[in-house]
Amino acid sequence: MSLVPMKTILSQAEEGNYGVGSFSVANMEMVIGAVQAAEELKSPLILQVAEVRLNHSPLHLLGPLMVAAARASEVPVAVHLDHGMSTPVIAQALEIGFSSVMYDGSHHDLETNISNTAGVVQMAEKYGATVEAEIGRVGGSEDGSEDIEMQLTSVKDAERMEKETGLDALAVAIGNAHGMCKGEPDIRVDRLREIDARTEAPLVLHGGSGISEKVFQQCIEAGVRKINVATSTFNKVTKQVNEAFVATGAYQNYFDLHQDEVKGAKANVLKHMNIFGSAGKASAVQIK
Ligand code: 13P
Repeated sequence: MSLVPMKTILSQAEEGNYGVGSFSVANMEMVIGAVQAAEELKSPLILQVAEVRLNHSPLHLLGPLMVAAARASEVPVAVHLDHGMSTPVIAQALEIGFSSVMYDGSHHDLETNISNTAGVVQMAEKYGATVEAEIGRVGGSEDGSEDIEMQLTSVKDAERMEKETGLDALAVAIGNAHGMCKGEPDIRVDRLREIDARTEAPLVLHGGSGISEKVFQQCIEAGVRKINVATSTFNKVTKQVNEAFVATGAYQNYFDLHQDEVKGAKANVLKHMNIFGSAGKASAVQIK
């Protein structure tokens, strides 16, 4: 199949009542692992990189690689810029061929968030790309550099945001936080249901690491269609490499290390695709 707009994947998920994982990647090995998992399970896939991670994984290098992997894939893959904060980076991602961008204006007041998001929707239109925006504020921070307090999404603000911007996907703050939580986060599924009842756009759950299988399923039942997973994949790759290193005492060559990174990323993606119900759904995505 190929590179597809994220909204195509999400509208099929809406119809089939399942969730699709949006998996953060940092290098070629993680991209290969994620695509292998999706192909093995015949699942649609969203590959993402966040703007704050670009100091480690430069967009002009990782971006074309992600797009090329999507184009060559046997399953539908969307390539997404996660937590885009600045217009030049969003523009660069669109030029590279990303089929989706997030504008994160959650640190601004509502009016500014709405007007900036509307500007990004306009920018993305000529590329046919999907736009995700955030209302309320997800706790923690994408790269662990800040401990942002969660601000619960108001139903009224979510309705306004959708109506006044023309966004395609709405990220909500319902008790979720980025990074591994100390305990299980208290996810407000009741608020999620209220938001879902009053909005049309597919809902996005950030902070997928540390949420239990049961709560993921409750969120999907309540309207979540895209689930972001970052930390647990980075941790799994690191663990896979550490365990192999401890077991053997030392890597004998670079390519064993490469293979363990692919294996770690693949394992975490497989696990989440099975939980989210996207396995076997690749052919449901109609590519026009
Ligand atoms: P986690 O790091 O908790 O998986 O969150 C990922 C995320 O929401 C990226 O936007």
